[in-house]
This record gives sequence, C-alpha cells and structure tokens, in this order.
Amino acid sequence: MSTDDTTTSNCGASTTESKADASTDADAASKCGGATTESSSSRGGATSSESSSSCGASGDDENVGATVEDFDADPGQLIAVGLGPGQPEGMTARARSALLEADHIVGYTTYVELLPDEVTGAAEDIYDTPMCGEVSRTEESVDRALAGNDVAIIGSGDPNVYALAGLALEILESKDATASMVDFEVVPGVPAAQSCAARVGAPLVNDTVSISLSDHLTDMPTIESRLHAAAKEGFTIAIYNPWSRKRRDNYEKACEILMEHRDPETPVGIVHGAGRDDETVEIVELQNLEELGETDLVDMTTTLLVGNEDTYVWDDRMVTPRGYESKYDY
Ligand SMILES: C[S@@+](CC[C@H](N)C(=O)[O-])C[C@H]1O[C@@H](n2cnc3c(N)ncnc32)[C@H](O)[C@@H]1O
Repeated sequence: MSTDDTTTSNCGASTTESKADASTDADAASKCGGATTESSSSRGGATSSESSSSCGASGDDENVGATVEDFDADPGQLIAVGLGPGQPEGMTARARSALLEADHIVGYTTYVELLPDEVTGAAEDIYDTPMCGEVSRTEESVDRALAGNDVAIIGSGDPNVYALAGLALEILESKDATASMVDFEVVPGVPAAQSCAARVGAPLVNDTVSISLSDHLTDMPTIESRLHAAAKEGFTIAIYNPWSRKRRDNYEKACEILMEHRDPETPVGIVHGAGRDDETVEIVELQNLEELGETDLVDMTTTLLVGNEDTYVWDDRMVTPRGYESKYDY
C-alpha cells in the first residue's frame, strides 16, 4: 500500500506527509464538513518522533478539537472493528463485511497493512498513523463519522481488549455527540490471548486474568500490585505488551513477581506474532522467562500465557485442567 494512499487525511491532516500536502484543506472541507482544519491541525498525528517516543500524551497532540456543533452533515456510522490476530482467515465474517461496507478505514499503520486487498480496495479512503497518537487517530475516526462518512476504526484482536472502543465513546461524549448519533457499534475479533492460547494447546480454560505491562496509561506500581494479586490467587495470566526497550525493567519486575508466587517450573507459553508471517511459539518454564526478554521471541508483538499451579505440559501442549477430573472418572 502506498504511503500516499494511506496518509492523506480527509478530516484535516494528521500526519506530517499530509500536512505538507496543499490539497489537504480542500479534502477536509469536502469530506469532513465541520471538522475544521484548525481542530485537526492542533491535534497533530503520530509523527516519526511520536512513534519513537514512549507514547506519552504531550501538549496539544492529544487534545480533542471540534465539537458536534462544528458539523452540519447528517452523521455516518462509526464501528470499532477487531481484526483478530493478523491473517485474513483469522478475521470474523462480520468484521470483513463491516470493513467492506465502510467508506473510511482508520487505524495504526501495522493493522492497516494486515487488511486483505479486497478490503483496502473497496474503501474510499484509508487513514493510518504509526504507533501512538491513539487519541488523534480515534478523534479522526469520530470526526469523519460526524461529518457524514461510514467509518471503521480498526485494531488487532478485539476492540475491547487494550484497544480503542472505549476511547471512541469517550471522545464522542467529549464532543457533546452521542453514540446513537453515529450508530456506534463494536465488531468483536479474536483477542491475542485466545489466538496465542490456541497455538500452545489449552492453557486458559480456567479463570484467567489479562495484564498489560505497558505503563503508558497505567502506572507501574498499579501493574505490579495487580500482577501480585493475580499470581497469588492462582489465575492463569495472559500478559500483553510484555517487553520493549523502554520497558525492560517492567518485564524483569513481572518475572520476579511471578517467581515469588509460582513454582519455577510453571509452564509459560510464549507466542510471538500469532497468525502473522513471523509467528514463533515456545513453551518454557517460568524460571527461564526472564532471560528470554533479550531475545526476539519477546517483544511488543508477543503474548505470554502463564499457567496456574495445575497447568502442565503434555505432548508439547500446555494443559490447564478445568476441574472435570475431580468430578468424573476418565
Ligand atoms: C495494544 S494491545 C492490543 C490487544 C488486542 N486488542 C487484542 O485483543 O489482542 C497489543 C498487544 O497485544 C498482543 N498481541 C497483539 N497481536 C498479537 C499477535 N498476533 N501475537 C501475539 N500477541 C499479540 C501483544 O501483547 C501486544 O503487545
């Protein structure tokens, strides 16, 4: 997909490239009604400096601009669509049809690149930005819908798992719009924990907690205390956002906490890039997890599945008993 196709904003430019494009203002006026150039230029987008930042909200970049009063068109629809793990076969039929029906698709560049050609070919416009800039990107989708377009905002996995469905509603509210006004809908997708669990057998069949090690929006002491509680209470634990160069310490701390409460031989499923070309899968013991933080296996496209005290490995698969064995003979 060419950069030109995917970075030109029709609601006011958000990317560096589109801001430089003199045609952008005219596009904004024709497609986004009241979404003024003023509001979108103040939002800014995910610039290259943002993409290498730690995603902290700074300055006006993450301030919401135009309100519902600035739009005079009949609003279109806004749907938050979960793509599942990555490959087109992993997408639900409902997600595919919702994307085929959307006029505009908005998303993080990596997710846009995962879309099947059939979907990108059918869209009138695709707006993508690099990592971070989640607020400006989500606002772009809201503004486009308020301006009369049917818009899909996309993300990997499911829109309700560390994703933008809630933010879209919050932004609608902050603009004095309503969810009904844009017929807001969430189209679920298969979350990473489930896609990854499928790759290592059946690790999550009992009570499970998901924890993200990203301290961008939740501070690390809170993450640590949640991890202590989950590990102490015997949940299986799905760990999202496990490692990045800036979050080495979070990963190490998480491994320490898990070791404090769990047997060192507890099986841990590590799945990098489930359903993508570079998918890699390993089952290791908890005591070996920390050293893997410095390998390509564990990064921001990896999910860790930490077994509970009953989880074992059988024939290269993780098995977490559901409890049937205590009630039935088999
Ligand atoms: C911002 S969260 C998005 C989660 C997503 N909404 C979901 O339902 O899976 C991003 C994290 O999801 C996990 N993830 C997303 N796609 C993945 C994949 N294909 N394989 C393994 N983990 C994945 C990683 O832990 C990554 O850091």
